[in-house]
Amino acid sequence: MLFKKKKNVHKLDMQRIPQHIGIIMDGNGRWAKKHNLPRTMGHKKGAEVLEKIVEYCNDIGVKAITAYAFSTENWKRPKEEVDALMDLLYEYLLQAEEKFSGKNVVLKIIGDREPLRDDIKEAMLHAEEITKNNTGIILNMAVNYGGRREIEYAVKKVIEDVKNGKSDTDDINEEYLSDKMYTYGLPELDLIIRPSGELRLSNFMLWQAAYAEFWFSEINWPDFTPKHMEQAIIDFQSRNRRLGGV
Ligand code: IPE
Ligand code: IPE
Ligand code: MG
Repeated sequence: MLFKKKKNVHKLDMQRIPQHIGIIMDGNGRWAKKHNLPRTMGHKKGAEVLEKIVEYCNDIGVKAITAYAFSTENWKRPKEEVDALMDLLYEYLLQAEEKFSGKNVVLKIIGDREPLRDDIKEAMLHAEEITKNNTGIILNMAVNYGGRREIEYAVKKVIEDVKNGKSDTDDINEEYLSDKMYTYGLPELDLIIRPSGELRLSNFMLWQAAYAEFWFSEINWPDFTPKHMEQAIIDFQSRNRRLGGV
């Protein structure tokens, strides 16, 4: 008698979709180099990939994606690359209406906006405004974002509250601090994805990462497809998240 070996093919469990996924969109430069293209082309391709991934995640019921687009450390790059990234961001924001409205995406932007160009700041406000009544997935774009900067601001806000008599030192606890983070109101961060082979956080979601699961891959972000996202979620679902329990 022939026994067929049961294939270990796991499928997505639609009842256990992660609610909030963080993506460190890394490897754009290496992708471009591999294809003999300028680094900027890698960033451009990366932006297109994000759209497809957001659409896929919206379809399967993910509530929020935080996408790391520019870190507080990325200003160290050559001026031409920073300028190109800012131009790309600006274009992206201008197209937000046509890009996201039909797909029911709510665009939010986190990070320190202060040093950004005025036209970018305006476009950010506009893009948030025109997508705020959508009811689908939240795309939380992290621009000039740093986890340490975020904590710094949260602490400052807490001190303001105490100074103004809005709260007392005894009121300050984890929950209070969480409410001062950029991610206020979003679901808990369940999963952090970092492509490109680097095994670090690079200042991403330090506070929120406390109990997130990690998924790393060698693939560069511009080559990332919904299939990879599906695999990441299947792996996530196979893990035993004890959250400190037994
Ligand atoms: C990520 O890709 C995009 C940003 C940090 C803005 P990189 O530009 O870091 O790509 P690599 O790491 O050099 O390949
Ligand atoms: C992290 O990638 C920042 C973003 C993806 C926006 P980097 O390429 O800047 O990180 P490092 O330098 O490899 O740590
Ligand atoms: Mg990088």
